[in-house]
Amino acid sequence: MGRGAGCAKSILFGEHFVVYGLPAIGVGLSKKIEVEITKAPHTRLESSHVDANLLAGLDAIRNAMGIKDNFIIKVKSEIPVASGLGSSAAVSVAFVRALSDEYKLDLSEDKVCAYAFEAEKVFHGNPSGMDNNLAICGGAIIFQKKPEGVSITSLRIGKPMHLVIGVTGKKKKTTAQLISEVKSKKERYPELFHFIFEAEKKLIELAIKAIEQGKLEEVGELMNLNQGFLSAMGVSSRENKDIIYAARELGALGAKITGAGYGGSCVILAKSEKNAEEIAGEIRRLGYVAITSVAQ
Ligand code: MEV
Repeated sequence: MGRGAGCAKSILFGEHFVVYGLPAIGVGLSKKIEVEITKAPHTRLESSHVDANLLAGLDAIRNAMGIKDNFIIKVKSEIPVASGLGSSAAVSVAFVRALSDEYKLDLSEDKVCAYAFEAEKVFHGNPSGMDNNLAICGGAIIFQKKPEGVSITSLRIGKPMHLVIGVTGKKKKTTAQLISEVKSKKERYPELFHFIFEAEKKLIELAIKAIEQGKLEEVGELMNLNQGFLSAMGVSSRENKDIIYAARELGALGAKITGAGYGGSCVILAKSEKNAEEIAGEIRRLGYVAITSVAQ
């Protein structure tokens, strides 16, 4: 029997832009997915994580690792599916770690990440690789896709950030669909998108400094600006806006979608732990799921 786990993540800045090589900032959350595998004559999934493509993704991992055995795969998840919290990457990382445990492979984090990415490609078409990296690392990272490969730098958090994740429970479009819609809009309006992308580049530079220096009001303002760009690009739904405006009215420092958007989840930077609880309560009152987490 082999066991492994992977973490949920939240992107604070730069989703979608990251696909085109801009840096993005993400944090690992305390919620996780655990996978337990037992050799069996035929592969069977016992999962609370419901995703039609799950087995196809996990098969891509097995093939990449050259493993022919079949397994009963038990998946225990604390992360809502298709919510922008990286559940598919977390299950992929957990599965690779379970295989590594079963065959005593002692895989490095880089290898775990690379194998998990094989499943991410099945799930999302052309993902950046950010989710599988955060599913491994936790903490805060700056992630960038460069021509020579992926660069991951850990980011010091100057002051603890009280986050609330508002989960809409409605993923109206898949990540692959949203990535492709942004691509075709970018191709239709190259000049407009050039300006949005240049502004986002500057915004990320400022956000990195503000996070390191613990200037949380500035971090929040920049999150709000980033939400403006994402909304202009068409990836914010009515449910996202409900959560974002409710949080801002309760004094949140910043609120935006996190992940691919159009449903999925929102990330909110609260003023304090008490403020985070108030915001989480209001999000639940509106009929959504809310998770609180401290990034430090
Ligand atoms: C998905 O969590 C974030 C996107 O930027 C896609 C990716 O980075 O692969 C939309």
